[in-house]
Amino acid sequence: MSSHGPATPMSAHKSSGLSGEAHVPGDKSISHRSLIFGAMAVGETRVTGLLEGQDVLDTAKAMRSFGADVEKQGDTWVVHGVGVGGFAEPDHVIDCGNSGTGVRLIMGAMATCPIAATFTGDASLNKRPMARVTDPLALFGARSYGRSGGRLPMTIIGAENPVPVTYTTPVPSAQVKSAVLLAGLNAPGQTVVIEREATRDHSERMLAGFGAQIVTEDTDEGHVITLTGQPELKPQTIIVPRDPSSAAFPVCAALITEGSDVLVPNIGLNPTRAGLFYTLQDMGADLTFENMREEGGEPVADLRAKYSPDLKGIEVPAERAASMIDEYPVLSVVAAFAEGKTYMPGVKELRVKESDRIDAMATGLRAAGVDVDEGEDWWTVHGRGFGDVAGGVTVKTHLDHRIAMSFLVMGFATNAPMTVDDSGPISTSFPIFESLMTQLGAKLTQ
Ligand code: S3P
Repeated sequence: MSSHGPATPMSAHKSSGLSGEAHVPGDKSISHRSLIFGAMAVGETRVTGLLEGQDVLDTAKAMRSFGADVEKQGDTWVVHGVGVGGFAEPDHVIDCGNSGTGVRLIMGAMATCPIAATFTGDASLNKRPMARVTDPLALFGARSYGRSGGRLPMTIIGAENPVPVTYTTPVPSAQVKSAVLLAGLNAPGQTVVIEREATRDHSERMLAGFGAQIVTEDTDEGHVITLTGQPELKPQTIIVPRDPSSAAFPVCAALITEGSDVLVPNIGLNPTRAGLFYTLQDMGADLTFENMREEGGEPVADLRAKYSPDLKGIEVPAERAASMIDEYPVLSVVAAFAEGKTYMPGVKELRVKESDRIDAMATGLRAAGVDVDEGEDWWTVHGRGFGDVAGGVTVKTHLDHRIAMSFLVMGFATNAPMTVDDSGPISTSFPIFESLMTQLGAKLTQ
């Protein structure tokens, strides 16, 4: 059962000639962080381009529950922060909805404040592992009481006298890294996070922007990030770039839909996020980066994607996984239309996202006529080439926005329509998906 109301099925029908400009919404990762770091600064942070998806709106509500003032004035979100260590104790349960990023980062932010808070989420979030965050938070002195297996609902009692921590992340996770850094903000001395594989670095960049002392070094052990605790964070003016993970959907739709030529302007190409686009190019996609430039210290480009009838299956380098972890579902759709196999190793983390994304995609792809092999941390899609992917099925989306959007993109090129059992979760990250795709010429029906 979803917690967002009755399920709303949606179907995608064979389309052709997608064209025009696709202005995708603001980056989800950066949007969450803008509100949370803004709430921990002293004074007024102003944010434009914020993603107004449900996940981020739930984080805005949570920040108000901890005492920050968060409101929208015209196009700008204005946050009056309470300062590092200044969170008030909420008098109700914090509901983070569908958002793993929201709940994990907020747990980190409150874990070194002398307050208690109880967290919950929807049926998807309440299944996801939280021990990966509460284990390092315990080292700061925080205590947590959740359901068995470290699941939500969960109460965290923040440390009264937090100590700084040195922590090597056991899984490649920007959420875990960020939770530890956020907790480290209110611990005296230096908190150190070591990650063997680089994950998205938005927290590090934004903390530096807010005036924290934070240094990243490349060593034999991996990335070593050292944060000096108890800074006064200075409020910022933030322009949120557009989300490469949302751009993935119109880009991939254009590649597999006959006669398409779509421009997706202003997409951040931070190397910790852009892996999908290089993978698509390796598969022979007609995907180009136009007008390459730098904005706010991040590489940005306009992406032009054209129908690509000669896609080839490839082995996706395992070391690229972290930089495209949210894009494997839609990549597996593109792979279904390629010639030959696409092998995707090193992707165990896909099993603990909003759904088990390997299982959800493999099940739907097989039902639609595409062979898929899988192991615990790898999967292979056996491409059928264009014109030979049957479709004509209804697939389960398991409260997972990216599963819903991936199968809808698939339906633009399958022989018979693809239907998703519930399109509601799309609003967590890409509320304008339906109107944007329809404007490009894609055929979607409720
Ligand atoms: C995110 C990190 C990623 C990603 C998620 C957003 C973030 O998860 O899947 O959608 O904003 O930090 P990991 O924590 O597994 O890296």
